[in-house]
Amino acid sequence: MPHPLPRPLEILPSGPLHGTVAVPGDKSISHRSLMLSALAVGESRIEGLLEGEDVLATAAAMRAMGADIQRGSDGIWTVNGVGVGGLLQPETAFDMGNSGTSTRLLMGLVASHPITTTFTGDASLSKRPMGRVIEPLSRMGADFTSSPGGRLPLMVRGLNPAVPIDYTLPVASAQVKSAILLAGLNTPGITRVIEPIATRDHSERMLRGFGAELSVEETNQGRIISLVGEAELKPQSIVVPGDPSSAAFLVVAASIVPGSDVLVMNVGLNPTRAGLFEALRMMGADIVEENPRIVGGEPVADLRVRHAPLRAIEVPAHLAPSMIDEYPVLFVAAAFAEGRTIARGAHELRVKESDRITAMADALGACGVAVEEYEDGAAIQGNGGGPIAGGATIASQLDHRIAMSMAVAGLGAKSSLTIDDVSPIATSYPMFLETLDALKGSQTVAAS
Ligand code: S3P
Repeated sequence: MPHPLPRPLEILPSGPLHGTVAVPGDKSISHRSLMLSALAVGESRIEGLLEGEDVLATAAAMRAMGADIQRGSDGIWTVNGVGVGGLLQPETAFDMGNSGTSTRLLMGLVASHPITTTFTGDASLSKRPMGRVIEPLSRMGADFTSSPGGRLPLMVRGLNPAVPIDYTLPVASAQVKSAILLAGLNTPGITRVIEPIATRDHSERMLRGFGAELSVEETNQGRIISLVGEAELKPQSIVVPGDPSSAAFLVVAASIVPGSDVLVMNVGLNPTRAGLFEALRMMGADIVEENPRIVGGEPVADLRVRHAPLRAIEVPAHLAPSMIDEYPVLFVAAAFAEGRTIARGAHELRVKESDRITAMADALGACGVAVEEYEDGAAIQGNGGGPIAGGATIASQLDHRIAMSMAVAGLGAKSSLTIDDVSPIATSYPMFLETLDALKGSQTVAAS
């Protein structure tokens, strides 16, 4: 994937935000819809797929392994799958760009097929740990040659038939869980993943939806997920709900900019994803759920968000897995709250697209906010709701969520701030900046 030139952007302080916006499709669910559709025999249909760079990287890889994937002029995607066990040897290496989810989940798929493939990625992805997936997938019989430290570029040689395992997750990671389950699809016998701490359950929901035999047991040791291998998946018609992780930026923006009143449509509220909204409500945010409904087997609602004075909280550590991608923007909310917010128990932030603890401490620090870093989180001194200083140039560090968080912070700054590179935003929310502009000018913006 060509790496775009850095795109700097100046973010100007904003007046009240008004309007109705629809967020784009959920990134986690979009990846999984393409992968499972590609493993079903027959034609699946996907509506609301996120057309961001990360998901397009997954689509390219599934095409390279034999699936027929097309986008209709109506925005609906159709996938003709090859069946579990039917993936073909790709002709070239997979360039996964910035996408950790594509990489880790695809490593699982390849692990139990007679395929050898190489994964490469951008500078951010090449720093991220892959040992967490290499270890269980090696136990299933796949063979890996990785760069030092278990990083990309790496080569996977799948084993067929692979060996089923019982595996207790050492880190709370839906990517690791999903990689093992996806490998288990083409493995004889029962593959079991034990999750001491529950993580997002989109894979389980969707595997069941496609007809796989999967059971989940809640026990004292956590959730035990058992999948019967050599599954036959049946094609589905999928509607992808809006991404709560994308909605998060708009919800925080409306909460911190005085006078704002925004309706964010179509927000996925799966309880394994909705931790940020709970934390914001604890801080005093005014978020009302309207029109609750089920979309694609997931709870969804529209969120009406009005500006409200926020107060500091101690963010409950048990919320970490359900808001793991939302800490950067939570830190922004904390900067506008009254008092000192403390968020701990989130070590995983260190190994995301960037080290998100240091990245946000540096970014907010440069804007005049006092942030104390901990190994597993941060304490943020809020300014009581007034504007933060701003006036700095921020490094987005190839991390979409740092760029979007600081674009939100800039709306409430005294002086404009500059983000050195906003191009990573295209990985998950290509229309984000246009959506913010529309809210400043009060228009309705469709998802994209
Ligand atoms: C994801 C899981 C999370 C999350 C990532 C998407 C997924 O990663 O941070 O953005 O789709 O399974 P971890 O599995 O590393 O926690």
